[in-house]
Amino acid sequence: MDKLKVMTIFGTRPEAIKMAPLVKELERRPEFESYCCVTAQHRQMLDTVLDIFRIVPQFDLDIMEARQTLSTITSKCLLGLEEVFQHVRPDLVLVHGDTSTTFASALSAFYQKISIGHVEAGLRTGDKYSPFPEEMNRSLVGRLADLHFCPTEANRRNLAAEGITRGVFVTGNTVIDALGTTVRKDYRFSTETLNQLDYAGKKVIVVTCHRRENYGEPMRQIMTALRELAQAYQGQVELVYPVHLSPVVQEAAHSHLDRLDNVHLIDPLTADEMHNLMARSYMVLTDSGGLQEEAPALGKPVLVLRRETERPEAVEAGTVRIAGTSGSDIFKMASELIESPAAYAGMAHAVNPYGDGKACHRIADGILYYFGRVSRSPEMFQSR
Ligand code: UD1
Ligand code: UDP
Repeated sequence: MDKLKVMTIFGTRPEAIKMAPLVKELERRPEFESYCCVTAQHRQMLDTVLDIFRIVPQFDLDIMEARQTLSTITSKCLLGLEEVFQHVRPDLVLVHGDTSTTFASALSAFYQKISIGHVEAGLRTGDKYSPFPEEMNRSLVGRLADLHFCPTEANRRNLAAEGITRGVFVTGNTVIDALGTTVRKDYRFSTETLNQLDYAGKKVIVVTCHRRENYGEPMRQIMTALRELAQAYQGQVELVYPVHLSPVVQEAAHSHLDRLDNVHLIDPLTADEMHNLMARSYMVLTDSGGLQEEAPALGKPVLVLRRETERPEAVEAGTVRIAGTSGSDIFKMASELIESPAAYAGMAHAVNPYGDGKACHRIADGILYYFGRVSRSPEMFQSR
């Protein structure tokens, strides 16, 4: 029987980290002829992931330019992918999550009548503009896709509520598969600042912030709260903030947080550095989706710097709280976790609502089932 031609497409850092273990799984299996195409919506932040996981894409659209608009990203992906698809004619295209690359890749595959598999399907806030444009991207990909790989049962229910019930698998999130390959007790950072931090004597807080809906006033509030936390807990707390390369974020972070001894504004970390930093940290303050999934698996409390989340599972498990985007609320909630051992202990326990490290295996099996190559559907992921 012919091998199945499966093309994995991604463009940004989080997509790359979460697709990397799947690319490896497809490469390992004899049933697949695996192709990898990157749009390079991100450049440096994508390339470090490709290096760490040793992935050499066959196609690279190289679309990144500073400050380009959503329309530019989307049109460049559509045009570039048309050529790639005509060249390879994959049986299935796999896209991930909710970025502009994700949406444009699914739309382009649809135009060419190529089957689409959506990895990390079914996440929803129900608010069309938050996160922006991700909520609409993932909803539209939900309509376009033939196969839906949901991390959790709640994600499956979200799709069912939209009438999407065929080709749906609950697999766990591939990010937990990735985490299993990167975290090590004896890990040494290549970023020297991180080797020198006093993880035992100080409370090391990991910070990230990049969402478009936080641009402007919300980001100003967040940065002000971070500055006040650093000043109020000097000597006790070290803030480590690898700053996203977006010029908007760079400006916001540096204008508020430069010249504070206990704030370390550093370059974006490689995925393995970030995972090992979180593993040694006290807690995480973030508006990132991926960090909300990784930190609970590492037993680290998370305060989410957004007004809502499409990842309610860890909130329900008690390890993640929504802090919102008001500076005073963020300061208050973070202070409580710094000062109260009881409040901290209540949140600092490892839970794994997002996966058991076998998501890629289930996704590969789900593909084979969909194409009639095996008779049994994979067992669904169930969070304990
Ligand atoms: C994108 C995704 C968002 C995801 C985030 C992960 C969209 C619309 N947004 O947002 O869902 O959460 O990635 O980080 O798809 N830049 C560089 N080098 C890089 C990466 C980015 O210089 O390696 C700069 C570029 O100037 C770029 C800007 O960052 O214009 C913003 O990048 P872009 O991909 O447009 O949006 P993100 O905010 O990164
Ligand atoms: N990450 C990283 N280096 C950093 C910051 C984040 O490798 O300096 C990783 C993080 O561990 C997670 C992913 O990037 O796996 C999350 O990406 P991001 O926050 O950019 O996007 P989101 O998840 O919000 O879409």
